[in-house]
Amino acid sequence: MLARLGLGTVQFGMHYGISNHLGSPGETEIAAILEHAVASGVGYLDTAFAYPNSEALIGRHLAPGSNLKIVTKTAPVASIGTARDPKAAILDAVASSMDRLRVDRLYGLLVHHATDLGKLGWESLVEALDEAQSRGWVSHIGASVYNEAELELVESRFRPDIVQGPINVLDTRLLSSKCFARLKAGGTEMHARSVFLQGLLLMQPSAMPAFFAGEGCACVAAGIMGGAGDQSSCRMSRLCIGTARHRRRDRRRQ
Ligand SMILES: NC(=O)c1ccc[n+]([C@@H]2O[C@H](COP(=O)([O-])OP(=O)(O)OC[C@H]3O[C@@H](n4cnc5c(N)ncnc54)[C@H](OP(=O)(O)O)[C@@H]3O)[C@@H](O)[C@H]2O)c1
Repeated sequence: MLARLGLGTVQFGMHYGISNHLGSPGETEIAAILEHAVASGVGYLDTAFAYPNSEALIGRHLAPGSNLKIVTKTAPVASIGTARDPKAAILDAVASSMDRLRVDRLYGLLVHHATDLGKLGWESLVEALDEAQSRGWVSHIGASVYNEAELELVESRFRPDIVQGPINVLDTRLLSSKCFARLKAGGTEMHARSVFLQGLLLMQPSAMPAFFAGEGCACVAAGIMGGAGDQSSCRMSRLCIGTARHRRRDRRRQ
């Protein structure tokens, strides 16, 4: 099971997350987190060119030769349609990601902003992904999406090996989309992110920001957790992870 879990690393270099009261971890803590992930058999690391310092911190503190499958994302290319050589710029950025990560091969390279695939010059992005793959820099290419419309846009542009998107107990829209089912049937790996909604779903309702008070999220969390304490938090985290694995269990039952 742990081999199918990934560690998100945007928090390594920036204060991120609704439940984050401590800011980003220090280098010693990052080294310990990575060591623990490797020792426990976690399968993937998610990072991005644009996550401040994240790739460099991983490069400095991840033990060389670890089995973690590293997935990073393309750098933003301003005015992709008018840039002089956008494909070369994207490939240069991939090379610098690998330098910072201190690896000579990546498991995955995702288009960070799927909407770029709808812009003038989108072909350069797909050509850069293909080129990175044929040069042997990455074994899987794909995209990160926020919703079904972006998923359909990705599907219309290339055949992704990986698609990453938000799936959680309050948002199962991707799981029920036809495009998701088609891609999955064709062998695309679906990487669920934000399964805890940045930690919101594991917060005690009383600690949630006022925006979530009353109806909606707080009520759902309170109802599912049914009280305070570590046990309920543990139940909730299992429910969150179970939601992200929903389709696979369904298929096994057939
Ligand atoms: N466009 C994109 O490609 C994109 C967008 C968003 C995120 N991501 C990736 O997805 C990763 C995760 O993002 P996310 O924040 O949305 O993910 P998430 O998995 O929904 O939430 C992670 C947060 O949940 C909290 N948490 C986890 N286990 C907990 C527990 N047992 N008890 C209490 N709190 C717990 C932690 O908060 P604390 O840190 O406060 O403990 C943790 O930071 C990012 O690091 C990034 O790599 C990618």
